[in-house]
Amino acid sequence: MTDFRDKVALITGAASGIGRQLALQLAAHGAKVAALDRQDDGLQKLGAEFAGRPFARAAADVTDLAAVRAAARELEAQLGPTDLLIAAAGIGRKTPSDDFSAEEINAHIQVNLMGVVNSIDSVLPGMKQRRRGHLAVLSSVASYRGLPLLAGYCASKAGVNALFDALRIELPPLGIDVTTICPSWIRTPMTAHLNLPANEIMEVDKAAAIILDAIARRRPFIAFPASKVWQLRLLRHLPRWWSDWLTRRHLARLRKYIVEM
Ligand code: NAI
Repeated sequence: MTDFRDKVALITGAASGIGRQLALQLAAHGAKVAALDRQDDGLQKLGAEFAGRPFARAAADVTDLAAVRAAARELEAQLGPTDLLIAAAGIGRKTPSDDFSAEEINAHIQVNLMGVVNSIDSVLPGMKQRRRGHLAVLSSVASYRGLPLLAGYCASKAGVNALFDALRIELPPLGIDVTTICPSWIRTPMTAHLNLPANEIMEVDKAAAIILDAIARRRPFIAFPASKVWQLRLLRHLPRWWSDWLTRRHLARLRKYIVEM
């Protein structure tokens, strides 16, 4: 994987989990890392691991467009124009219908969907001008269909997929690549407390390596691991009654983990 040498990678959600691991692995491949997150302490800890390698950080909330635009400008002033955006900032909490809350669902839409929109808005004009760039986003296999207890999360990630489906047609002719990344469970602070069985969850370093390989190859879409993806893909394409029946049956056993989210 040689594609990242001296490339400027702006990563949102870089203070924790997948974003943090991507930042470290990108740096190991020679990229200049521009880290954005709302947790400044997490960004500082990440910066401490860079030891002289090109790194800049900016604390901002991705739901605040003005703040994200200002942060991107500040990061680009330090490291140069953004070659690669990885929008990884996200939240994942249960939103069960027995405690239906517009505020909770709105929080998922604001961070997971509008946060991605705001991040793209902050770097896309420059990429268009240079006729070069790459937009990548952390979606999820939970985007494939609405899953019980996760309505807000699934709706936000389905929106991300639709957004990127459209951009994937419009942007490549302008020299800008687009990658949608749909993982299943990955062990990060978002999922650490769930005690999922080992065969249900992937370690974050392995996941980050898979993601970076897909980005380096400029793959338009990646979902992994295959053992989980086929199940969700099947649920999406079966007749609705059949898909609902299987979802009820097979995801019932995951219910005990999701209620912990
Ligand atoms: P995490 O909780 O470890 O990291 C998320 C990061 O996003 C945190 O540093 C947090 O401060 C930041 N963030 C959250 N809201 C923000 C906001 N409004 N503004 C700026 N930063 C904000 O989570 P993880 O697991 O690393 O997730 C990263 C992405 O991957 C998310 O989009 C998540 O939905 C997605 N994903 C995660 C999976 C998993 O099993 N961990 C599976 C599939 C997708």
